[in-house]
Amino acid sequence: MVKIENIIPNIAKSTAEGPVWLQDINSLVFVDTYGGDFNFWNAETKTIDIVHYDDFATFAVPHADGGYVGGVGKKLYHFTIEDPTNFKVLCEVDQGKQTRIVDGKCDSRGRVFFATMGLESKPAVPVLEQACLYSLDTDGTVVCHDDGMHIANSMVWSPDETKLYLTESIPGFIYQYDYDINTGKTSNRKIVCYLPHTEHGIVDRMAVDTEGFLWNCYYRGGKATRIDPKTGEIVRTIKMPTSTVTCVCFGGKKYDELYISSSIYEQDLTVNPHAGSVFRVSGTGCKGFAPNPYRGK
Ligand code: BGC
Repeated sequence: MVKIENIIPNIAKSTAEGPVWLQDINSLVFVDTYGGDFNFWNAETKTIDIVHYDDFATFAVPHADGGYVGGVGKKLYHFTIEDPTNFKVLCEVDQGKQTRIVDGKCDSRGRVFFATMGLESKPAVPVLEQACLYSLDTDGTVVCHDDGMHIANSMVWSPDETKLYLTESIPGFIYQYDYDINTGKTSNRKIVCYLPHTEHGIVDRMAVDTEGFLWNCYYRGGKATRIDPKTGEIVRTIKMPTSTVTCVCFGGKKYDELYISSSIYEQDLTVNPHAGSVFRVSGTGCKGFAPNPYRGK
């Protein structure tokens, strides 16, 4: 039996997204993109440590040497919760372009992949054809894998890491690339599915379960779905208590709970009372993976 709990009500200043479960500190990190905050919510004490930068805060993953790699505007920072002003810039992309980073995740070798999007004049209305998929290798090399997209958003690998999946929120595609874990190269892009906004809302960030199925949330769609990447079919839908859900990740000690963030941006709480909350969904019978850390310097 699936149970949905609103565990952090109305926490977002703007758009809460990018949840990642951090087992070592029993916490969920999620960003407040427009507020520039990385929120570290401790599941036991229910307290939040906030790391703030004056730019878009877009995603965070652990760094193997301690601390986190965070997407901040067009840069990747290595920062710690204890001393956030003492951060290191790992790389910067898209100089001169009207873009920013969106999601990022690491493969098992410790490369971090991250996507960019055109800056928005309002939610989901970006500057077009500016978005790219990048990676930062452990030796510091930045590679552009794909370009010319609108909102390249979120990536996951198949459990055997032979495929990399990417959502392009505008216009609403999930792509699959062949992936070579030895070289970190992507090739042979194909469309897994097309998810029209009019039917689903805007396909947002993504997680993968241990059976290789893709989990997505839909901004303005109020649901999370499980997709079979072999057929592109939605095989399961979980209706959420707010329409503005953004992202999903697996977490909890056994990585068998879903954590789902949402946006409060432009929402009227008398109409959409749970907007901007973070939810826990248990009892799906599915499990996910712990986040891989970045292994560069
Ligand atoms: C971005 C939003 C964007 C949305 C599309 C998010 O990950 O941060 O600004 O509008 O994707 O649903």
